[in-house]
Amino acid sequence: MGNVLMLYASMTGNTEAVAEIIRDAVEKHGHRVVTKTFEMDPVDAAELAEYDGLLVGTYSEDDGALPFEVEDFYEELDEVDIDGLPAGVFGSGDFVYDTFGGAANTMGDRLAEKQAKLVPEWLVVDLYPDEEDADRCRHFADRFCKMMENNRRREMD
Ligand SMILES: Cc1cc2nc3c(=O)[nH]c(=O)nc-3n(C[C@H](O)[C@H](O)[C@H](O)COP(=O)(O)O)c2cc1C
Repeated sequence: MGNVLMLYASMTGNTEAVAEIIRDAVEKHGHRVVTKTFEMDPVDAAELAEYDGLLVGTYSEDDGALPFEVEDFYEELDEVDIDGLPAGVFGSGDFVYDTFGGAANTMGDRLAEKQAKLVPEWLVVDLYPDEEDADRCRHFADRFCKMMENNRRREMD
């Protein structure tokens, strides 16, 4: 069993719905998931050192920008070592925008730059997750858990 930190930003509940599906699926693998929202909980990037995995979710704002409440965390990532930490990025956007899911892309690129071990594709859902999206979320969670398990095995060798 691993300890996973899940952080997300959601204004109207779409990213939250994605987060809940992923969290339930990760918990089914036997991991403990600590969930925090960027809006309500103080999130200090230094906490990442206490976890075996990280999941970050965000909706997108104008031109695919990161929501303001995610910016501090994004900047604090400069200060932390997350080299090799299993991680996944998800979010919700709206297909009508050219920069669909831009904020999730920005966050994913940042974690990749910091050498986190990422689930290769960021999972971005169009608005609220439908049944097909829910399957994608569970598949994403399975891949994330597989990465956590592989990482653990490597640490034990
Ligand atoms: C002012 C505004 C600008 C937006 N700009 C984008 C955008 O550039 N790209 C995108 O994918 N979605 C954009 N969206 C759509 C939201 O990301 C989308 O509605 C998302 O599902 C909201 O997630 P939430 O319910 O978790 O807050 C925008 C929404 C608003 C209100």
